[in-house]
Amino acid sequence: MSAHIIDGKAIAAAIRQEVAEGVARLQAAHGVVPGLTVVLVGEDPASQVYVRNKEKAATTIGMNSQVIRLPASTSQEDLLALIAKLNADPTVHGILVQLPLPDHINEEAIVLAVDPHKDVDGFHPINVGRLHTGQSGLIPCTPAGILVLLDRAGIQLKGKNAVVVGRSNIVGKPAAMLLLSRHATVTICHSRTADLAAEVRRGDVVVAAVGKARLIKGDWIKPGATVIDVGTNRVDDKLVGDVDFESASQVASYITPVPGGVGPMTIAMLMKNALTAAEAAVQ
Ligand code: GUN
Repeated sequence: MSAHIIDGKAIAAAIRQEVAEGVARLQAAHGVVPGLTVVLVGEDPASQVYVRNKEKAATTIGMNSQVIRLPASTSQEDLLALIAKLNADPTVHGILVQLPLPDHINEEAIVLAVDPHKDVDGFHPINVGRLHTGQSGLIPCTPAGILVLLDRAGIQLKGKNAVVVGRSNIVGKPAAMLLLSRHATVTICHSRTADLAAEVRRGDVVVAAVGKARLIKGDWIKPGATVIDVGTNRVDDKLVGDVDFESASQVASYITPVPGGVGPMTIAMLMKNALTAAEAAVQ
C-alpha cells in the first residue's frame, strides 16, 4: 500500500487565490486594502528568506506589504515604540515581528505589545486564550494550515484519535486545541513521553512537530492513519521531516511530503489572517 500524498503546495496556492479574491472584494466594498507589516530585526539568514517570501506573497495577492528591517543592535525600547506606532496606524491591519529576536530583546514583551487585533501570528495571550476557550480570533498560521490540509483531504476528525508530537506554543499546543475543537480525542506527546512509539501507534491522525529528522518510523504508524509532518530538518543539505517518509508512506493512507506539505501552508494562512484582520477592522 502506498499513501495518498497531500499536496500542500497546491492547497496553499488555492488558499492564496481565495485570499486574493477576498482582498479584491474588500477593496471593492470598502475601499480598504489589507496592510501587512513584517518587522525583521537583525540579519538571520533563514529569517531573511522567510520575510522575503511573506513580502512576495502579500504583494502578489494585492495587499499593502511593508517590511521594516532594523539592525540587530535595535533596542527593545525602540522596537516597542515602532510597534506602538504600527498599532495606531489604521492602514496597518496585520503586524508580524519575525522571530527569533536578538538576545537583548525580550520576545514575550514584544508579543504582548502587538495589538491582538493585528496579531497575525496569533501569538498574543489574548488570541491564545480565545483559541483555548473556543472564541473566534487570529490562529497561529502553521496549525491553521494543518487543519486546512486535513479538511481539504477530506479527513474526518470527530471521534478520532489525534496524536500531536511536540508541545511548542507555535505548533504543538495550538494544533492540539484545533483538533480538540473538531472533536478529536487528542494526545500531546513530547520529549519526556514514556513510550512515544506506542502513543503514535494509537493515532488515526498524527501531527509530527518535534524537529527531529525522521524520528517517526513506519512501524509506529497505525495502518490507514493520516500523517501530517511539520518537521523541516536539514540533513546533508536536504530538507527532511520528523517522519521517515519512505517507511511511513507504506503504512499511512494520507501523508504530507517535506518539502511541499505543511511548509507552503504557513504563508498562505498568514495571508488569510491578514485579510481576516482587515475585514474585522472595517466592521
Ligand atoms: N519564525 C519562525 N516561524 C515564525 C512564525 O511563525 N512567526 C514569526 N513571527 N516568526 C517566526
